[in-house]
Amino acid sequence: MMNRVGGRYKALVTGATGVVGRNLVEHLCTRGDWEVVGVSRRPPDVPVTWRHLAIDLGDESDCRAGMTAQTDVTHVFFAARAPRVDLFEEARVNRDMLANLVGAVESASPVLEHIHLVHGTKWYGCQMGPFPTPSREDDPRQLRPTFYYDQQDYIVERQRGKRWNWSSVRPPLVCGFSTGNPHNLVTTIGVYAAVSKALGMPLRFPGNEGCFTSLYQAVDAGLLARASVWAATEPDCANQAFNITNGDCYRWASLWPRIAELFEMEAGGVQELGLAELMPPREPVWDELVERHDLKRHAMDALASWPFADLIFSLWWDDVSSTVKARNHGFHAAMDTESMFLEQLAGLRRDRVIP
Ligand SMILES: NC(=O)c1ccc[n+]([C@@H]2O[C@H](COP(=O)([O-])OP(=O)(O)OC[C@H]3O[C@@H](n4cnc5c(N)ncnc54)[C@H](OP(=O)(O)O)[C@@H]3O)[C@@H](O)[C@H]2O)c1
Repeated sequence: MMNRVGGRYKALVTGATGVVGRNLVEHLCTRGDWEVVGVSRRPPDVPVTWRHLAIDLGDESDCRAGMTAQTDVTHVFFAARAPRVDLFEEARVNRDMLANLVGAVESASPVLEHIHLVHGTKWYGCQMGPFPTPSREDDPRQLRPTFYYDQQDYIVERQRGKRWNWSSVRPPLVCGFSTGNPHNLVTTIGVYAAVSKALGMPLRFPGNEGCFTSLYQAVDAGLLARASVWAATEPDCANQAFNITNGDCYRWASLWPRIAELFEMEAGGVQELGLAELMPPREPVWDELVERHDLKRHAMDALASWPFADLIFSLWWDDVSSTVKARNHGFHAAMDTESMFLEQLAGLRRDRVIP
């Protein structure tokens, strides 16, 4: 049974300024039955209706101090992510961040019910080369380290004999609005299109042929937020992981010309450009666009992560997960992915984030 605190549940969401966490706190706030506290080191760079706590999860004493007053947290949603070049170090750092927080929350809140982890399809080695598709939750692990394994192993071990339980979701590419932590392909494509257009260029697909034609999946950050809350509150989901996608697949070959059309641009050919090298020197073009179109004042690197885009566009194999398990457990939300991309990009234009 879930614990109600003053008639509400209380969620502690880490990574609250990232693309996943930001959309999760917004979703929880709209539901009305949750009190929401969001955690990140830096404050949100847009106005928010939830309470922000600045805590460094890598610092155990900071976690303990930050949690002292949080005596009524019922649910932890862990969506923080600390990337490192060395993947073994990344695994250790991200596991320790989780452990620091869990220890502190357990000490502070006797009403803790659930810890939810947001992981992803890197669980299946989706970034390493062709792998068995559709990937299923019980597929064998990969040799290459990912912090997802370390975090889940930690939480499984820690949960033994406790009154709280856990769940996790494994999304593919997550699409939604975020700034400041631009692990976000939609805002990155938006800036790339705007700069290409300003330079009088067609919208070239900046990946390889295999990437252009392979089969991919994505998930809308709002849909993922609903799935996380479902998994964290549905008793049948206790102590389990679920693949969560929009429910369909897409190919860039079909979607890319529609993105070009949205920006009133000619769709260019396929050219593996290496955006991490080519785009940062174009920052003055972006700054001029912000001035000319009276856009919201976001620096280019607050909206776009070129290394992340290069990684996504360098893959040349299918990346498809089975969502049968989530559907059989009762989560049925679905969305057309091409429409999602186009609507999110149009929304960024409407909100004057991009021209
Ligand atoms: N984005 C995607 O397309 C995608 C796809 C599949 C899976 N996922 C998974 O979803 C989860 C969330 O990813 P995301 O893309 O939302 O991340 P993100 O946009 O990179 O944001 C990372 C968040 O973690 C916080 N953070 C990092 N280090 C911290 C620390 N030491 N203490 C406190 N907070 C810290 C950051 O805030 P500060 O820097 O201000 O502290 C930020 O709020 C991760 O497990 C990721 O692997 C993401």
